[in-house]
Amino acid sequence: VQLRPYNTLDIPARARLFASITSVEELQQLLQESPVDTDDMLVLGGGSNILFAGDFPGMVLQIAIKGKKIVEEDDSFVWLEIGGGENWHQTVRYAIDKGWGGIENLSLIPGTVGAAPIQNIGAYGAELADVFERLEAVNIASAEVRTFSKEECEFGYRDSIFKRALKGKFAITKIVLKLSKRPEINSSYGAIQSELERRNINEPTIRDISDIVISIRNDKLPNPEALGNAGSFFKNPIVEAEKFEKLKQSYPQIPGYEISENEIKVPAGWLIEEAGWKGKKIGNTGTYRQQALVIVNHGGATAEEILNLAAKIQESVREKFEIDLVPEVNIIS
Ligand code: EPU
Repeated sequence: VQLRPYNTLDIPARARLFASITSVEELQQLLQESPVDTDDMLVLGGGSNILFAGDFPGMVLQIAIKGKKIVEEDDSFVWLEIGGGENWHQTVRYAIDKGWGGIENLSLIPGTVGAAPIQNIGAYGAELADVFERLEAVNIASAEVRTFSKEECEFGYRDSIFKRALKGKFAITKIVLKLSKRPEINSSYGAIQSELERRNINEPTIRDISDIVISIRNDKLPNPEALGNAGSFFKNPIVEAEKFEKLKQSYPQIPGYEISENEIKVPAGWLIEEAGWKGKKIGNTGTYRQQALVIVNHGGATAEEILNLAAKIQESVREKFEIDLVPEVNIIS
């Protein structure tokens, strides 16, 4: 099966087998009838955070479980259960239509609901963990269903247990989010604040926030339908305060966000731009002209070209700033 339609970087790669399942029972049946080694199975969401570095010798499994339902409700909150195969952004807009707050800052993030917890998707001052309640997943080795509480997911910055100890071991089939009927607006992110001022909005609604996030993202991030990409290619590195102060002496403009007393998060996009890579094109690949952190496929790029570019960027940033950039996209080799 050709995987090009299933990854937003638009990289050609093949999988030996491909299955799309629409219910938990169907998935259990598949796993019981044809047991596979977890290493031979790749669970695919929207393919928007993945780089196929080569052909995949096993089975690619697409979770196409749909559905949204309220599983609990009180005066202040709804607990919304959502099928892993639902589109993330459509779910955000659905919540906004209902007046439920908590995920409006995460508008327009590509991909599926089931993929969202894996890297604890985040943007514009919010992350999935803020509203996450629990998820249901199927153990690929045993076909058993298991519930994971928020604590059990071990969320971190673009991180969860599903990227570490349990990588590739579970297929996420449903998630439950706790959304607020009396939304608190989160407009702390600088770009949202300036856009609210520009639009003269004093008391923003969750719809205003969503609309603003959509317009910021459309300006800064390439639409994968038009230009292949997987969003941020690297994570924003976290450096020690002492190191940050040193960097500041040489680069007074360097931006940084304090995340603890001794840790500063530095925007990788700034480092990459400063190292001269913004908008650069090499063969069929390059970085996006509006956001250096995004590697794009200008058409016909191979995984090798993308990995070569990523390595060159890492090398430059290491040389200039002594900072190691770590990929944020999931590289399947
Ligand atoms: N910047 C530059 N040059 C660039 C890009 C950015 O100088 O080419 C500077 C900006 O001026 C700004 C700072 O870097 O001061 C931050 O930029 P931005 O607001 O675009 O956010 P980011 O840190 O680059 C992160 C997430 C994005 C998310 C945005 C908005 C990561 C790895 N990336 O990017 O997530 O949408 O914040 O919250 O944390 C993704 O994960 O795929 C993704 C797109």
